[in-house]
Amino acid sequence: MAKVDLAARIPNNVDLSSDRRLQRALEDWQPRFFDWWMEMGPEGFQADQVYLRTAIDVGRDGWAHFDHVRMPEYRWGIFLAPAEEGRVIPCGDHFGQPAWQKVPGEYRNMLRRIIVTQADTEPASVEQQRLLGQTAPSLYDLRNLFQVNVEEGRHLWAMVYLLHTYFGRDGREEAEDLLRRRSGNPDSPRILGTFNEPVEDWLSFFMFTTFTDRDGKFQLLALAESGFDPLSRTTRFMLTEEAHHMFVGETGVGRVIERTADLMNELKTEDPDAIRAHGGIDLPTIQRYLNRWFSSSINLFGGEQSSNAAHYFAAGLKGRYKELERFEDHVALDAAYELPTVVGDEVRREQIPLRNAMNEILRDDYVGDCEFVVDRWNRTLEKAGRPERLTLPHRRFNRDMGIYSGRPFDPEGRPIAPEVWEAQRDRWLPTRADVDFVRSLMQPELRVGRIAGWIAPPRKGINGNDFAWEYVRFDKSSAGVKLGAEPSRTG
Ligand SMILES: [Fe+2]
Ligand SMILES: [Fe+2]
Repeated sequence: MAKVDLAARIPNNVDLSSDRRLQRALEDWQPRFFDWWMEMGPEGFQADQVYLRTAIDVGRDGWAHFDHVRMPEYRWGIFLAPAEEGRVIPCGDHFGQPAWQKVPGEYRNMLRRIIVTQADTEPASVEQQRLLGQTAPSLYDLRNLFQVNVEEGRHLWAMVYLLHTYFGRDGREEAEDLLRRRSGNPDSPRILGTFNEPVEDWLSFFMFTTFTDRDGKFQLLALAESGFDPLSRTTRFMLTEEAHHMFVGETGVGRVIERTADLMNELKTEDPDAIRAHGGIDLPTIQRYLNRWFSSSINLFGGEQSSNAAHYFAAGLKGRYKELERFEDHVALDAAYELPTVVGDEVRREQIPLRNAMNEILRDDYVGDCEFVVDRWNRTLEKAGRPERLTLPHRRFNRDMGIYSGRPFDPEGRPIAPEVWEAQRDRWLPTRADVDFVRSLMQPELRVGRIAGWIAPPRKGINGNDFAWEYVRFDKSSAGVKLGAEPSRTG
């Protein structure tokens, strides 16, 4: 494998300097990426020094370097996981043949579409989160937000590298379009629905990093099984970074729950209004946010029966999660999947060809992973001696695509009448009043060691530092404004 070149204009371990044309094309794209970052990246913090992790290697240990850097000076690089000697196509019609090192001609368009769809989500989430820094509950959280943001920027680099290297002119045009689309812009939106929804408060951010980034994790896991080896190696390294995004989301929501449980115990009440009056986020509101972001994110897996998914699998472009370890039949041509379908008020089981069920199989793994997360959140309630529990809604609940869309289901997945939905909707999904309330709590707390009143401090800080530590050093010109917040609790 090529060695890591950190001194290059674009840090990389792909021997970029040996391919002048490619290097020039990427160096050409680089200033436009910076322009996009300045326009759509975190607003109001570009001059500050943030304690960030930068990828500098892909080895098992020591792949990251931590330091205070200004975000525009972050070293976005191109890193692929090491090649596996003798790797074969892990699934589909070409199972067992040597993995592709070049784009197979007959699958070129499909492969480009897969890469562009993944790539588009990376800048989208940065755009969705660009104002959140202004209401961060602590310096620690502010830093974590920016860590996620710069890494999504690096994931964009990872995908653009593939487009530029393997797709010629089409690839370069796609790379331009990735900087042109904008999350939520009606004229030129991002490709996938959830990535056009605003993420305007920190509870949404933590839910997004729990559920939407977790969809990303599972898509990357499926792409890590690709027979197109450069895609597999790229996504395998992205997964190492993604693990931190999962951590930010899960522990973020967990800390909100912890604070709420403490307030309920202190005040000896479970009354949502009382919790709100004391600046906490009541559990029913947390549950509604959970319902909303889970049901939105689960759409991202695509249709339950999908000929596209079947084609991707047949072509060996996308496998199942841990394809080689978990399955025996990697061709999946004769097997079936039992898909629950709803006819009238009845849930029936329908046999569909296994290849057409690949989206649903990945969704099964995702739902299982989400259940573990909710279990861990419930352990926080248990530890605080609370009897309340959060639940993951059924996958049929509140869907706006796939076979379960177009008719209402309750959070247990039972078909219900439209009138019931109308009557219960405000118990199940955030209301305008919920959103306004959560937003009213979003006052920045950017002083060292302080934390907003609606969230508990983390057990420990980042990279061996305490929670009370200067994770972001503000530029002198803005420090006064940013640190002028009203006093709140110490962490
Ligand atoms: Fe990402
Ligand atoms: Fe992510």
